[in-house]
Amino acid sequence: MERTHSGLAVLVVAGLVGALASAAAAADDPGVKVFIEKRCYTCHTVASHAAEIEKQKAAFIKASGAEADEEGEDEKDSKGGDLSDVGAKRTAAWVDEILKNPKPSFKDTPECQRLAKQKDRKKFKGTPEELTALEKFLGSLKGEAKQAAGFTSCLKD
Ligand code: HEC
Repeated sequence: MERTHSGLAVLVVAGLVGALASAAAAADDPGVKVFIEKRCYTCHTVASHAAEIEKQKAAFIKASGAEADEEGEDEKDSKGGDLSDVGAKRTAAWVDEILKNPKPSFKDTPECQRLAKQKDRKKFKGTPEELTALEKFLGSLKGEAKQAAGFTSCLKD
């Protein structure tokens, strides 16, 4: 009797641990949430996380009663491009700067100036916590790309 009892307890504990683990795995990334709430998705895709973004986007639109998708689709004309590899291609300092200040003093190279002139980029408006979560998410996006050569040098000291 005693043995059966403890065997059951082990089963219950194991089941609980398993349930907790899968709940954690399914938890929404707070960075993705910010990415949706700040409407980054209207100009950018993250192909590598498309399913997760679609899921949170649907929940956000439903919860907030925000404008339906159509407007977002229109805005996609002013493309910011796909960010699937931004964490590999760019440094954290660069991403931080481009979010906080879309018009920093870019260096006078063709690539830097091309990025500097993108009028559609917007300054991030939100709490420091939201920015941190967003940057953590972006930094995790390593895609397949290699670090673009010499890119960090775009920002002035
Ligand atoms: C109105 C359109 C628009 C919105 C909204 C927007 N972006 Fe952008 N973003 C752009 C454009 C355009 C660029 C420049 C892309 C280029 O030339 O490669 C850009 C560039 C970037 C870059 C630099 C990419 C690189 O290759 O260095 C990052 C990172 C970025 N955006 C993140 C965000 C995040 C995060 C949000 C939401 C807070 C956001 N953007 C909202 C249009 C937008």
